[in-house]
Amino acid sequence: MVTFNIPPFAGKELEYIQKAVQNQKICGDGEFTKKCSAWMEQRFGAKKVLLTTSGTTALEMAAFLCGVKPGDEVILPSYTFSSTANAFVLAGARLVFVDVRPDTMNIDEKKIEAAITPKTKVICVMHYAGVACEMDTILEIARRHGLKVVEDAAQGVMSSYKGRPLGTIGDFGAFSFHETKNYSMGEGGALLINRPEAAEAAEILREKGTNRAKFFRGQVDKYTWVAYGSSYLPSELNAAFLWAQLEKADEINEDRLASWNEYRRQLEPLARESLIELQAHPEGCVHNAHMFYIKLKDLEERTRFISYMKSQGVLCVFHYIPLHSAPAGLEFGRFDGEDEYTTRESERLVRLPLYYGLKAEDLAEVTRAVKSFFGR
Ligand SMILES: Cc1ncc(COP(=O)(O)O)c(C=O)c1O
Repeated sequence: MVTFNIPPFAGKELEYIQKAVQNQKICGDGEFTKKCSAWMEQRFGAKKVLLTTSGTTALEMAAFLCGVKPGDEVILPSYTFSSTANAFVLAGARLVFVDVRPDTMNIDEKKIEAAITPKTKVICVMHYAGVACEMDTILEIARRHGLKVVEDAAQGVMSSYKGRPLGTIGDFGAFSFHETKNYSMGEGGALLINRPEAAEAAEILREKGTNRAKFFRGQVDKYTWVAYGSSYLPSELNAAFLWAQLEKADEINEDRLASWNEYRRQLEPLARESLIELQAHPEGCVHNAHMFYIKLKDLEERTRFISYMKSQGVLCVFHYIPLHSAPAGLEFGRFDGEDEYTTRESERLVRLPLYYGLKAEDLAEVTRAVKSFFGR
């Protein structure tokens, strides 16, 4: 049986967790939390990075820091995870869903401007499969209309767009370190703050509305409740787990890319015969092998494919019922313009097993099964 995902494990996770226990500091913002955020600030050139309890809560923080208020509108793709949308709904916004491009499944930058109204406050993009959205165009639209840009880079850790790491391009970026992501702390995430003036408000928001971070730095002599906030900082135990993986970030990335490239090499002949479609990587997009997906003819063929693969001992999954057609999407938002690609393309897409340490023989088993589905 080839399973769909195995959470990453780099080797030193338990040793570092033990160290956190020995440090007698297992709540947030200890040695390992600091190591992780400093590493991300340095590696990605983010102005400030705060580790959070999840990608979801990093997005929630971004929504509040953008000053989203009830009645504001937020533009986002419909083909995304519920968290991208929930964050803005919690802040009181109405959602305006925009179609995706079929080549990358990212929001179609050419359809964004038509969705802007006087109420629009934020454009939230999601870099699907760790492949960047067309950020130059999106930033230019945002600048012209005075809008904030949030990047849901949950899948995009270590990817880049024209040399700029994903998550550092808009006003705020969100990473996820869920066990399904390239780097994991079980549940966790990070907020990338690219506007230095928002850093202090972010620290307060994350620390239950208090200025505790300033207190620990000796900048105030007592800490107090200064604004609304919540508890968005993760435990040191989770941060210690993540640190073991960030130390090996390149090794993990290379291993995933090697599997991804082998999938591509094996399956390109099927694409040349037009039996399947493969992912596109527009110029300037360096990806992180977060996902290997293929597109089949339609929903019927995909359903047959998934069940055939299961019969061959290979677990494949699809995801994202487009949000605009989900019960909460209908309640909290509207689709702008025509749904030309979102629904149709989402029904054709299927993901193949891909994780750190995927064995060559398991990958061969997957590609053999894919080929045999098509009688090759
Ligand atoms: C695109 C996207 N956004 C947000 C999230 C939420 O991240 P988390 O599970 O860390 O809350 C995920 C993953 O789960 C995701 O894939």
